[in-house]
Amino acid sequence: MQQPASLTHCLDPLSRGELELVIGALRRDAVIDQRHLIAMVQVDEPTKSALASFQRGETIDRAARVTVLDRSTGKVSEIVVTTAGDVRSNKIIEGAKAPVLSVESEMAIAAAKRDARVIDALRSRGITDIGSVRMEAWPIGAQIPKYLDDGRRIIWTPMWHQPTPDANFYAHPISGLHAIVDIDSGEVLAVENDQQIAIPQVAGPYRQSQTGADVSLKPLMIHQPDGVSFSLQGHKINWERWSLRVGFCQREGLVIHDVWFADNGNQRKIAHRMSIAELVIPYGDPSQGAYRKNAFDVGEFGLGNFTNSLTLGCDCLGEIVYLDVAVANPDGSVREIKNAICLHEEDFGILWKHVDIDGNVEVRRGRRFVVSSIVTVNNYEYGYFWYFYQDGSIEFEAKLTGIVLTLADTPGKDHPSATELEPGLWAPYHQHILCARLDLDIDGDVSGANNTVVEIDSFAHELGAKNIYGGAYETSETVLGRELEAKRVIDPFKSRFWKIINPDRKNHMGHSVGYKLVPGHTTFPLALPESTIGKRAGFMYQHLWVTKNETFERYPAGDYPFQHSGGAGLPEWTQANREIENTDVVLWHVFGTNHIPRAEDWPVMPVERTGFHLKPSGFFARNPGIDVAP
Ligand code: NI
Repeated sequence: MQQPASLTHCLDPLSRGELELVIGALRRDAVIDQRHLIAMVQVDEPTKSALASFQRGETIDRAARVTVLDRSTGKVSEIVVTTAGDVRSNKIIEGAKAPVLSVESEMAIAAAKRDARVIDALRSRGITDIGSVRMEAWPIGAQIPKYLDDGRRIIWTPMWHQPTPDANFYAHPISGLHAIVDIDSGEVLAVENDQQIAIPQVAGPYRQSQTGADVSLKPLMIHQPDGVSFSLQGHKINWERWSLRVGFCQREGLVIHDVWFADNGNQRKIAHRMSIAELVIPYGDPSQGAYRKNAFDVGEFGLGNFTNSLTLGCDCLGEIVYLDVAVANPDGSVREIKNAICLHEEDFGILWKHVDIDGNVEVRRGRRFVVSSIVTVNNYEYGYFWYFYQDGSIEFEAKLTGIVLTLADTPGKDHPSATELEPGLWAPYHQHILCARLDLDIDGDVSGANNTVVEIDSFAHELGAKNIYGGAYETSETVLGRELEAKRVIDPFKSRFWKIINPDRKNHMGHSVGYKLVPGHTTFPLALPESTIGKRAGFMYQHLWVTKNETFERYPAGDYPFQHSGGAGLPEWTQANREIENTDVVLWHVFGTNHIPRAEDWPVMPVERTGFHLKPSGFFARNPGIDVAP
């Protein structure tokens, strides 16, 4: 839905008009020309103090941060330009390598398809129609061949055969054959053609036209005859006692800003900004090509670029309000994605219930407000779902679906890091590791909050004076005082969780108000820390990091992870070991899944879920859902 410009808030996503205006201004003023590709355009978000001024009614310039690649030099620049077209800053980021841009992927694939070595290798495998070959452009980050390790930006191209135009090509991997392409020059640098493994032939149909899809149920209708219970003003949402702003970033995709809850009429702040700042997928298969599959879907591609246009009744059921988003293409044109963000309410079963001894029944039905979007990155879909509940809690859930990545190997072979799905068709083991950046301001105001993070373990004393019957247990609270102390992993044996408290705000019992971060289903990286991916995604070895809030510390593997040698981001920043007690902090929560593919994940995997909860813990005086009407 299009909002009048007058409603634009400084945290709103950049509209199509604004993107066109800022890119047009940069061209007009010759800041960029035909040598440049637009890597990304993001809102240059105001600081919390600027936001506070804005809320007080002062005007602040709305600005965009435009990341450009100069194709003639390979240099990356970040330009901050106001939506009035004034360039505020323009600086070259030394050593930065631009993410893989869509035009570069297309060009690299076209070059590989024209290459005589590739054509010959395909012919020797019985494929003469190059149009029936599907290639993808993957960052080579895991291991750059020594002879190419001279600073060039390189991709490699896994390939699949698509025997008919609507066939699921992932059923037919062409293993052992890849082109390695310089995406700056478009030159095919090498063709790897090491093994001749037969292309698996069993089809993997999943389209309705192929499967029939005749298992059906009677209609289930969700009606809200009086309309939805939320209101939307621009990108600001009010629902139940919650208020929040929906944001969008070309790099991270869906973003949630400025989350408040009205507690007995008092607006209480919970979060300034929440996003999934990185998503990395380390593959655990050492076989030809597969070991290189280590994509940073946020930092190396820009996840927001792959946002789906959602369909009513399919992706989302019920009374839906959609928001459109816009992204800049590398050539500077702007692409609008209709129905990119879905807003709706869901019934969520019982909120609470009690049957009293006198027979009185009190039961409340719970509802949740959902903000969601879905991206398709090659074979995979990621749904991001932020849920807001009537008990004051917030949940993030990633829904993983799509098609598992495939490779070919000899049927029945001992291949310990992959699952054989069909004869000769293997799905390598891999992990999906997400990192949420949670800039919470527990019980703060517009300009922020001083918060402290505490780790809480449950434990039992040994049998004796402190544990006479053996059944007693207590909790221990450890304040995470400095950044190096705040590198933490989950501990199910201690039911560990973390609480972010505001030491200056006490609840009715005199305790600091807080929210707890409750990890959900998660995993721990299997890649060795000394591996290339282990170094490049060093953030993944802790489930929790806490940092002092710094505007430019946004991405846990650094701003430019493409072909980065490693160590950037959280591992680097936290070396400063800054004090993080009673100050403005950011929580980084790492979570994910270890995907050992099942037969049932083929041909399209049923949704797999991973996420976390933020629950009030002494923030309210009692269950905030008590007042919910029956
Ligand atoms: Ni997976």
